[in-house]
Amino acid sequence: MVQETVLRPADFIAPLFVIDGKGAPQPIKSMPGVYRYNVKDLVKECRALHKLGVPAVALFPKLAAKFKNEDGFHALDEDGLILRAVQAVKSAVPELTVITDVALDPYTTHGHDGVLTAKGDDVDNDRSVAILSEMAVLQADAGVDIVAPSDMMDGRIGAIREALDDAEHTNTAIMAYSAKFNSAYYGPFRDAVGSSQAAGTRLLSKATYQLDPANRRQALNEAGLDEDEGADFIMVKPAGAYLDIIREVRDQVGKPVAAYQVSGEYAQIHAAAKLGWLDLERCRHESLVAIKRAGADLILTYFAKDMAKLLG
Ligand code: PBG
Repeated sequence: MVQETVLRPADFIAPLFVIDGKGAPQPIKSMPGVYRYNVKDLVKECRALHKLGVPAVALFPKLAAKFKNEDGFHALDEDGLILRAVQAVKSAVPELTVITDVALDPYTTHGHDGVLTAKGDDVDNDRSVAILSEMAVLQADAGVDIVAPSDMMDGRIGAIREALDDAEHTNTAIMAYSAKFNSAYYGPFRDAVGSSQAAGTRLLSKATYQLDPANRRQALNEAGLDEDEGADFIMVKPAGAYLDIIREVRDQVGKPVAAYQVSGEYAQIHAAAKLGWLDLERCRHESLVAIKRAGADLILTYFAKDMAKLLG
């Protein structure tokens, strides 16, 4: 009767990984219960999620090596995997909101979210923004409802909004990864999309464009900039270690706030449960209640399906 925070299936967005071909779902070792699906199986999974009351999915491609290069050329291929996936899901389950990632990390050999400068020692912010804007328009052409720039380049929200509007995609929304921290909790995701080779381990880390985990003021500033540039949703990521940021962003912005319980947060609960050290169901619930209590209107989580089954 006096419980203040209640979870429901409509709170969740399910991140899903997609691969080309006809093969069986590929398990991801560091993310028990999470698979990479071919397009046909992806559609099946989306149907199931929709039936369970999950309102949206966020799609991430895992590409074969031949589709990767320094410049992430395949991100602008009109026959690209992610575009085919969007079309398939939207035609089979039109009521399900589909979100696509706007970032180059699955497409670049170096695993960065943008293209590099001529010297190769940093991302080239402005050249990256131009490519990401084109990428967003292609995704909108394919019928996606929301584009989600997770790249953290400066000025990309305004540029993407303008590019979408120019292409008459005024109804395509933008979910901005606004306060995206340079986090070690992304490890299992990088295994899933195959971007781990560069990120944080070689020459460059993502520290020049993702936020320093020590910085609260900067996170609020980024959220404000993205809202001003036209973001329809503001995201904080990761979630569990950044509950203070979620709360402050919620208090500061007018738009819906999404929080991403990332791969490492999911993996650590599973790992401890596997060792018999934590109770999976209780920790899963507690971690998600905390994120919602902190102020998240929506939660991206690999637990989306489990939770919807439980709560539905
Ligand atoms: C990259 C991207 C990342 C995640 C979503 N989009 C990882 C990174 O920045 O390297 C992480 C999600 C997760 O860990 O679950 N554009």
